[in-house]
Amino acid sequence: MPETAKSRAASLAHLRSGDFAKGDPIPLPLTMASIFHSPGDATGYDQYGRFSNPTWHAVEHMLGHLEDAQCVAFPSGMAAISAAFFSLVKSGDRILLPSDGYHTTRALAERFLKPLGVAYDVRATSSMLDGGFAGYRMIFVETPSNPRLDICDIAAVAKAAHEQGAVLVVDNTTMTPFGQRPLDLGADIVVSADTKAINGHSDVLFGHVASRNPDIVARVRDWRETAGGIPGPFEAWLVHRGLETLEVRFDRMCSSAETIARRLKGHRSVSGLRFPGLEGDASNNLARAQMERFGFLISFELASEEKAEDFINNCALIESATSFGGVHSSAERRSKRGDAVPPGFVRLAIGCEPVEELWQAIETSLDRLGD
Ligand SMILES: Cc1ncc(COP(=O)(O)O)c(C=O)c1O
Repeated sequence: MPETAKSRAASLAHLRSGDFAKGDPIPLPLTMASIFHSPGDATGYDQYGRFSNPTWHAVEHMLGHLEDAQCVAFPSGMAAISAAFFSLVKSGDRILLPSDGYHTTRALAERFLKPLGVAYDVRATSSMLDGGFAGYRMIFVETPSNPRLDICDIAAVAKAAHEQGAVLVVDNTTMTPFGQRPLDLGADIVVSADTKAINGHSDVLFGHVASRNPDIVARVRDWRETAGGIPGPFEAWLVHRGLETLEVRFDRMCSSAETIARRLKGHRSVSGLRFPGLEGDASNNLARAQMERFGFLISFELASEEKAEDFINNCALIESATSFGGVHSSAERRSKRGDAVPPGFVRLAIGCEPVEELWQAIETSLDRLGD
């Protein structure tokens, strides 16, 4: 029987039960240890905290179950992205990045890859296939792109990248494995900021790299062990706990986002609304074809910086905060983080509040803006 999102979700909380001995705790114990009892030869068990840790194993097992791939955990999303770059590209290589994705990925290429002799170009997500991929070692996409929510065709990009001998990396942060499955569509690597929906409680930074290619996984693991950017066991334990409720939270967040996006479309203060699930959105046709859900991010414009600030700060059920994917709905005016968007551009991240109450709070705050 093929694994579906529901069957993966159902078995997620029971992955450890096959190994239980009588009296073992059912919830995951937290192992805070830098050293382990290590007599005799040095293979096949935990020995030192930079190499491995039982709490990481458990969270990587869960992530691997969801991705249907090997997963390597990292202390942040950027640490996972750095691992994909630094373990796979070398001086003389050229890589392609999205011009409209998370800005720190481009900053990493500009400030740290370029001085090491790795060239990079940028291309808009919606036209990622235009111009082909000749000469590139790695194509990196983020779809939907953060914050404008444009989309590219992962299967078509994977095919074109492989024809040119390039590897395709997909940043799947905004979707999680329940919303979109880039490895099933032909991507070689998924990177994810598990800081967001995967942990889901806005109390931890975390990340992972997933791949079905054992050589890639070995290089990424080697990078982690050698460079030393390892996740803390306590952070891993919290992410393990967050993963146990991911399917429930993500389902609620995506369903609420669909309702709220449709209602925002009819509000007189809102323009430039983007949500991949909306009929008529530039991303909608492709989103229907390649995404399992439409996500929980919505973007739109209000008339000015002041109106956008007032909307966010006066809404009783929205926190003014960067980041997204937590149980609290939150929003941010993205031009203040340097994104190339108008001053009144708002990225709204839908959380887990009951949808009618959340919509009432959003509508009240929008209505207060006047004309
Ligand atoms: C799409 C995307 N990728 C990666 C990251 C980086 O994640 P972290 O802050 O955990 O390093 C972010 C953070 O906002 C993001 O939005």
